[in-house]
Amino acid sequence: MDYSNIKCYDARISDLKEIVLIENNSHFSPWSKKSFEKAIKAKNIFKVFLEKERIIGYYIALIAQDQCELFNITVKKNNQNLGVGNFILKHLISFCKSHKVVNMFLEVRASNFTAIKLYEKNGFNELGIRDNYYKTLHGREDGLLMGCTFD
Ligand SMILES: CC(C)(COP(=O)(O)OP(=O)(O)OC[C@H]1O[C@@H](n2cnc3c(N)ncnc32)[C@H](O)[C@@H]1OP(=O)(O)O)[C@@H](O)C(=O)NCCC(=O)NCCS
Repeated sequence: MDYSNIKCYDARISDLKEIVLIENNSHFSPWSKKSFEKAIKAKNIFKVFLEKERIIGYYIALIAQDQCELFNITVKKNNQNLGVGNFILKHLISFCKSHKVVNMFLEVRASNFTAIKLYEKNGFNELGIRDNYYKTLHGREDGLLMGCTFD
């Protein structure tokens, strides 16, 4: 994948139609259009990544003082497993470092092995478990709280 062709900018309301389609295709409990609108209005860090003018991924995070919480990171289905998730997570990590963030946190479904591998590869460790935190088709599953401390 040629990352030099990937563009990144702050999400705009006009991006949300495309984002909601990607979100609905990628998550068991997708965010609603309203939640994305709120993220833009709340001035969360909401970056979209494009290849050939089409959105291939995005992340939403909140920085409060020296802490960052990652709320959403998604790669469009047919662009997954090509390293795009790694690219956009590294983008957020650099953004955090340049804004003097010390710790970053996130939560992930215990069954989401792709995401967990991606986070571990980027220095995140498991900090705790939220029992039965997420809904599944057949019941509930645990949420893993993961965190990373920057030097
Ligand atoms: C999670 C997500 C953001 C990762 O992005 P991606 O572009 O697919 O990930 P990458 O290609 O950068 O890296 C994925 C890594 O997981 C590995 N992987 C893929 N499937 C895996 C599996 N079933 N089990 C373990 N590892 C797996 C890949 O081999 C790769 O590791 P490597 O680079 O060491 O080979 C993306 O898959 C996605 O949007 N998923 C749906 C939404 C989601 O789950 N978001 C995260 C919520 S916390």
